[in-house]
Order: sequence, then C-alpha cells, then structure tokens
Amino acid sequence: MQNSQLLSAKVLEKLLSGSNLDKSFDVVFSSNKNNNIEIQESQIKALTYGSARFLGKSRFIINQLVKNKIENKTVECLIHIALYQLSQEKFNNFTIVNQAVDAAKKIDFRKSKFVNAILRNYLRSKDDLQELLNQDQAAKYSYQNWWVNKVRNEFKKDWEQILEIGNQHPPLTLRVNKKLISIEKYSEVLMRNGIDHQIISNTGLIIKNPLNINDIPGFIEGHISVQDFGAQIATELLDVKKEQKILDACAAPGGKTCNILESNNVAVTSLEIDELRANKIRENLKRLGLEANVIHGALSNDNLWWDGGHFDRILLDVPCSASGIVRRHVDIKWLRQMHDLKKFSEKQYLLVRSAWPLLKSGGKLLYVTCSIFSDENRDVIERFKQEFSDAKEIDLIYPNKVKHIRNQLIPSKNHDGLFYALLKKN
Ligand SMILES: C[S@@+](CC[C@H](N)C(=O)[O-])C[C@H]1O[C@@H](n2cnc3c(N)ncnc32)[C@H](O)[C@@H]1O
Repeated sequence: MQNSQLLSAKVLEKLLSGSNLDKSFDVVFSSNKNNNIEIQESQIKALTYGSARFLGKSRFIINQLVKNKIENKTVECLIHIALYQLSQEKFNNFTIVNQAVDAAKKIDFRKSKFVNAILRNYLRSKDDLQELLNQDQAAKYSYQNWWVNKVRNEFKKDWEQILEIGNQHPPLTLRVNKKLISIEKYSEVLMRNGIDHQIISNTGLIIKNPLNINDIPGFIEGHISVQDFGAQIATELLDVKKEQKILDACAAPGGKTCNILESNNVAVTSLEIDELRANKIRENLKRLGLEANVIHGALSNDNLWWDGGHFDRILLDVPCSASGIVRRHVDIKWLRQMHDLKKFSEKQYLLVRSAWPLLKSGGKLLYVTCSIFSDENRDVIERFKQEFSDAKEIDLIYPNKVKHIRNQLIPSKNHDGLFYALLKKN
C-alpha cells in the first residue's frame, strides 16, 4: 500500500506536468520494474484514476490547508493521493496517514511531519472543508473552471448530470460479433460463467462488475469486442446497405470498421495516418475474422492514397478533445485547455472538406466525435453546410436507450457523449 501511494504519486506528478496517463503509467512502471520493486499495477491504477477524478477537490483542500506553495511536487501528489483515499472512507484513516508519512520519508525525510500535519488537519476539519468546497464549482464538480462554465452554458438542463457522469466509473460494454455468435447465445455463455450482465441491443451488452478483458469469455476467439454503446450505433446511423463500398476515413484502432463488417457484407477501406495504429486495425480484424483494405495514409487535400473510386458511405470519426469520454480518460479533464478546441475544430473542418470529394453523389457521410463541445460538433457541421451547397443534413433516429439533444449524445450510464451528423450529397 505504501509503495502504491508513492508510485501513484509519481504517476500523478507526470500527469500534472502534462503527460497523459497511459504514458505516465508506462514510465513509472518500467522504471520501477528495473529496480525490481514489487508493484501492484492494478492497485496503483485504481488509486491514480480515483485521485485524478478527485483532483479538483483535493486541490481546493490543499489550498485551504497550506499557506505556501508546496515546492516538492511528488510530496504534493502524495497528499492528493492520501486525501482521495481518506475521502473514500473505505480504509482505516490511521493506516492511510501512516503509510503516507512513511512514503513521504522516502521522498524527503524532512517532509514527513508536514504530510502528517496536513492529513490530520484535514481529518479534523473535514466537515467545514466540505461546506466551503461546495461553494466552489471547480472543487465541487472536480473539473477546471472553464470546463464547468462551458458545460453549464451549453447544456442548460443536463449540465450537472454531464459533469457527475464524467466522474463515475465507465460501464464495460461489449459488442457481440454477429458473424460468429448471436447475442442470445453469448448471453448464455456469460450466464454459465456466472457473469452478471444486461443486454442493451441486438449486439450490445453491459457487464455489471468490472472484469479483466482477457477473463471475458470469447474475447480471444473473436466473439466480442469492447465498445461503448454510443459508438456501436454508428453502423446503424450510417445507414449501411449490403455490397456497399465504405470508407472509414480515420479508422484506428478499428472499432467502427469491425462493427460495420460484422453487421453487413460490404467492402471497407480503413484509412489511418498513424502506422502503429493502422497495425492495431489489422490485429483487430484478424482476431474477429474480418477483412478490410487497411491503408496507412492521410485524409488530406491531396488524398494521395486514393484510386479515384467513389464511396457509397464515409464514416468520419475525427480526432477530438475527447470531452465526452472523460470517465474513461480522466487525464483529459486536466490536460485539455479551452484554446485546444479551436485547433481541433480547424482540423476537423479540414478533414470533412477532404473527405467530401470521395463521396458518391447520393452517398452519405457520418461525422462523429466523442466530444460534448459544440465547437467541434454543431459548429463544424454548420460551417461546412454553409460552404458546400451539395451537402444536406439528414435527421437521425436513435435507439430508445440513447439520450441526445440535436444529435449530441448526453453521457449516461449506458453510453458516452458522442456527437453525430449525417450529411447526404446531392
Ligand atoms: C477518434 S480516432 C478513430 C477511432 C475509430 N474510428 C474507432 O472507432 O476505433 C481518430 C483516428 O484518426 C486518425 N487520424 C487523424 N488524422 C488523420 C488523417 N488526416 N487521416 C487519417 N487518419 C487520421 C488518428 O490517428 C486516430 O487514430
């Protein structure tokens, strides 16, 4: 536990200096493996994710309890971790504080008294601090201030639910590979293995208790994939018909490419700018027993990879801020800045422009993001429609379990916060 606190603090420190969590875990885990330190990766991950979710609150608490800036960033992060643990009220407070004090000694012996004093002070004044904390929106919801303001402005009714859902554990949602097994048969497999689940569509189900992916029956055999329900509906919304020629224009790791191929007999070209990520698509196709034409290339003005044959359907799942999936990528809440949205939206606009000439007349393009911010969604589409008179937006019909406002999915217990817009070419 002590080791876990210390290593979590090191990961959090990397995150706060601008590195994403996956990279931060890799660096900390690999450097500690070299030192032959026994580490419990899953415990460290749980601690780090939890404290990253809680960071807005622990920052506020530290500001209340500490007069001067804490110079040693590892010590500061250790306090964040311990405050998160204390707030959970799951473990013995005395043990948490003692372990944090011992961990502090390993960072800087002189700081252990300071850590002890802060944590004990927190325990004494917890209720008063909670009252103060509730009056500060960044602390109460645990997001950056600009983020809370933006969500409040954009979602007059749902803003609080959106912020709260973003701080919860994400559902583990599976998509059944219809080409290999039906949802009913797969549900029986789960029942036989004592895995509690809920069927949510004819291909989707939610596993009720967290499971390691390799422990899910049928994964290696290609019977299922992990995919959020909000993303699973892309195939349906794209209105795919058999024998069509389809371009997945920003395709890696291939979740939507595979979904399309599982549902229909179609010819899919999967384009991806990043070579390593393009290989991920190939791996996923292989595991699922599917085939697509995977191209390592860029969607751009030139489209140098293109053979001139037009597509019936284009899926354009553009890179975005990922603000609709913060419960899965907790680092996003702290790494993204307001000015990033402009950069994303410029790139997104250029990508739609680059994809449009590849579409057949009468064909349909589905624009997708996993963002909840209109800059990257509605604004991009409106700008595009104004410039391209041959583009007409078509109404979309969603399954009952999907909550949306004008195609903006409102993150819920069933799905993430994606955005969709379907454009038809005259
Ligand atoms: C949101 S992800 C796509 C997720 C994917 N559709 C899925 O469901 O698994 C966006 C992808 O677009 C790729 N990308 C970014 N710019 C691109 C470009 N100009 N051409 C092709 N791919 C691009 C990124 O590398 C990234 O893998």
